[in-house]
Amino acid sequence: MIYLPTRIFFGANALQNAEAYLIRLGTKPLIVTGKSSAKLSGALDELIPVLKKNNADYAIFARVEENPCWDTVKEGAKFLIDSQCDYLIAIGGGSPLDAAKAMALITANNLIEEDNITPDKFSHTLPLVAIPTTAGTGSEVTQYSVLTDTSTGIKAGFGTELAFPKLAICDPRYTLSLNNTITLHTAIDALSHLLEGIFSNKRQPLIYPLIQAGIDAIMKNLEIALNSPSNLQARANLMQAALYGGITIAQTGTTLQHSLGYPLTTHFGISHGLSNGMVLKQVMELYYPNIKEELDNLFSALNITKENFEHWLDKFSLRAELELSDEFIEDHIAEVLASRNMLNTPINVSEEDIRKIYNTLK
Ligand SMILES: [Fe+2]
Repeated sequence: MIYLPTRIFFGANALQNAEAYLIRLGTKPLIVTGKSSAKLSGALDELIPVLKKNNADYAIFARVEENPCWDTVKEGAKFLIDSQCDYLIAIGGGSPLDAAKAMALITANNLIEEDNITPDKFSHTLPLVAIPTTAGTGSEVTQYSVLTDTSTGIKAGFGTELAFPKLAICDPRYTLSLNNTITLHTAIDALSHLLEGIFSNKRQPLIYPLIQAGIDAIMKNLEIALNSPSNLQARANLMQAALYGGITIAQTGTTLQHSLGYPLTTHFGISHGLSNGMVLKQVMELYYPNIKEELDNLFSALNITKENFEHWLDKFSLRAELELSDEFIEDHIAEVLASRNMLNTPINVSEEDIRKIYNTLK
């Protein structure tokens, strides 16, 4: 079963092609973004004339931080109500998109003052348009929102079908201004999503062609985009791969790889994509005996071997200097095991498995 209620527009005319659908979503959008990406990408400068042309008023909330927290979501939701907006347009990487999903839900369901917000309290939402400016998260086509709880310091997500954006406007030109670090880390996040679509115990052969095409596109285009950041075709191929990654995890969820990465991002400030990349091979190795056939078939479809893939990945030196103490590891094993991504792992992951993988990062 595949479920994807998001209308997707892709390519250099994505915004123009989406215009009629976008305008129909409400009378006044709240544009949700980070501090700079909406402007730098060119997306905001293209969106505003479209709104003005249609006589649509708008408000802008440009205060979403990286790894957004619930406090920011609540602040944005209050601003949405004060500005009398009735739908949202999120521009940016995963952070503004995920924050906007939560803003829409807590506004629609009157939960702004609520402390314990859980998906069972959501019965409806406000329409959301997602305009990605990175090629990685896939949040433009998923039902997930990953937020940090500042009281516990835990990065955790929720998923609800209500959170799927109504429209995804994917224009690769918006990724041309990304620096190499963001290009690399977001591509590795997309790669993780595609691979986890195979790792996951919810894997679905129906989407294997997308997974194969996505991984192939990343392997063939990532170095081109890093060496020639203005290569639009390479950027388009990476954005398409990220979109396929999003479509994939909307069906399969992510697994241990994401669970291991969350504490690294929260405590050491390393990016989400890098934290996935640092544990990618170790997680694949752990799962391999149980999903050998699926992975061998994947690599065979890509005309490579598992060793070829690992060798290619090694070229990007996905490492970080971490002060990873035994105490930190012991403190976070329970957090990793409790994360909702663990429901999708193809094996029963033990405390020792987690300890061993974290020890490889020392
Ligand atoms: Fe991710």
